[in-house]
Amino acid sequence: GPSALVDRFGRRITYLRLSLTDRCNFRCVYCMAEDQRFTPREQVLSLDELAELAAVFVALGVRKIRLTGGEPLVRPGAVDLMRRITALPGLMELVITTNGARLPELARDIRAAGVRRINISLDSLRPERFRAMTRNGDLARVLQGIDAALAAGFERIKLNVVVLKGRNHDEVLDLVRFAMDRGINISFIEEMPLGVIGDHDRAEAFYPSERIRAELAAAMTLVPTTESTGGPARYYRIPGSETRVGFISPHSHNFCGDCNRVRVTAEGLLLLCLGQEHSLDLRAVMRAHPGDTTRLRDAIVDAMQIKPEGHSFDLQAKPVIFRTMNKTGG
Ligand code: GTP
Ligand code: 5AD
Ligand code: SF4
Repeated sequence: GPSALVDRFGRRITYLRLSLTDRCNFRCVYCMAEDQRFTPREQVLSLDELAELAAVFVALGVRKIRLTGGEPLVRPGAVDLMRRITALPGLMELVITTNGARLPELARDIRAAGVRRINISLDSLRPERFRAMTRNGDLARVLQGIDAALAAGFERIKLNVVVLKGRNHDEVLDLVRFAMDRGINISFIEEMPLGVIGDHDRAEAFYPSERIRAELAAAMTLVPTTESTGGPARYYRIPGSETRVGFISPHSHNFCGDCNRVRVTAEGLLLLCLGQEHSLDLRAVMRAHPGDTTRLRDAIVDAMQIKPEGHSFDLQAKPVIFRTMNKTGG
């Protein structure tokens, strides 16, 4: 039946973003601080706790689960967990968002575990810039990872690009051509102000989606579509190409009215909104009452009452959310 998870504004929650870890093999400048401290292991949900949570959310009507991080593929046992989750009756799709660096060795197993779509972050095609944006990430490995994903036969591959003025804004056309050459999709993302990250000035780096769209439109025809993957992106198609170009524009296009999702952090905190603090500690519920699924279900259903109407990010002001993206699950 329809989702049992409905908030005060009548929005049905059918999409869960579940973080496997706040750790990552990269340190992207917009995501975390260079000297980021990670959550001690005993505070991170176990694989069994993650599987239990996934089962309970699916029983409550969640149809799509996305595994996030940090980087989900640095979590030992990630692929085993994928097998457990895709086996849940009622789940329509399990998807993941990854930086791609571990795909050369894992892509085939992930596909075989039943994951049909995958999103891969790729901010630049120039090795030195890529290294600077990810603070030491190896572009060649990520490109190998994309090749491995193509070879593994995913039904949809999408590249995610966070566009920052002065770092990669002049590469958007190259990135679209890269996607078109491979018949895959690409989304351009406006940076969101989560956490204070040392020397990174977000107001300075802001590059609006509308500018990117206008620049691309000078080189190719972009036709708006009404397609949706259930996420916040607005998609355009390019006549004669399979590629869809998406824009995720939290600053210029508020999509909170259609919000269909909640997040669970690696520590088991249920976050009701990416840009607000409203949360519930599911780890505490699970560890205080092990095996009591009814209690866990009731806690999740009740938490829908505190889901806020939306977020309003202000790049000029000091951030109001102190957790960084790697602690949030993207
Ligand atoms: P699909 O539509 O399923 O392909 O995925 P997605 O775009 O929802 O997920 P992905 O993990 O690839 O995230 C892309 C960007 O969208 C990231 O920057 C996320 O933080 C952002 N995003 C996802 N959900 C929300 C949301 O509810 N609000 C905001 N502001 N940003 C979101
Ligand atoms: N704003 C917008 N997107 C971000 N991501 C990480 N940090 C931010 C941020 N501050 C993106 C990553 C990845 C996705 C999960 O979120 O690049 O593609
Ligand atoms: Fe790692 Fe993704 Fe954050 Fe980059 S954006 S540091 S790849 S979790």
